[in-house]
Amino acid sequence: MSQQQQLTAKLNEQLNREVTTFPRYMVQGASIQGAEWESVRAMYLAEVTDEVGHAQYLANQIVALGSTPDIQPELAAPLATPQDMLERDIVEEQTDVANYVALAELAGKQGLYALKMAMEQQAADEDEHRQTMQRLLGKLLAWGCP
Ligand SMILES: [Fe+2]
Ligand SMILES: [Fe+2]
Repeated sequence: MSQQQQLTAKLNEQLNREVTTFPRYMVQGASIQGAEWESVRAMYLAEVTDEVGHAQYLANQIVALGSTPDIQPELAAPLATPQDMLERDIVEEQTDVANYVALAELAGKQGLYALKMAMEQQAADEDEHRQTMQRLLGKLLAWGCP
């Protein structure tokens, strides 16, 4: 597998993660009830747009690199409580941060500096999401706190 094929394969893996994230956040935002969880509901609904944007960027770059997006998302089972949703999604956001950091490194090695910077920005977006979720659970912001 060439370096470029390796990069497009990793971009496609991350595209599939994003394509599982935004319907999950949309449904969680739609289903959370109760005044005490209104801020969690609003957070999920607001983050749908970010995750769609991430997916769109990845799909555009896969095509720009000469490949075709292969979308086969594995949707996770819904969770019952806002606490469980936040606990799971903090872990998922951490995985997304790590994936984007790795993608930035791969892109940089191939001289694709715009892609490198965009992957770093998407890592930062996911880290913001993680921090917001940890704050909503009343937890510290450092890694490994959930
Ligand atoms: Fe994302
Ligand atoms: Fe995110």
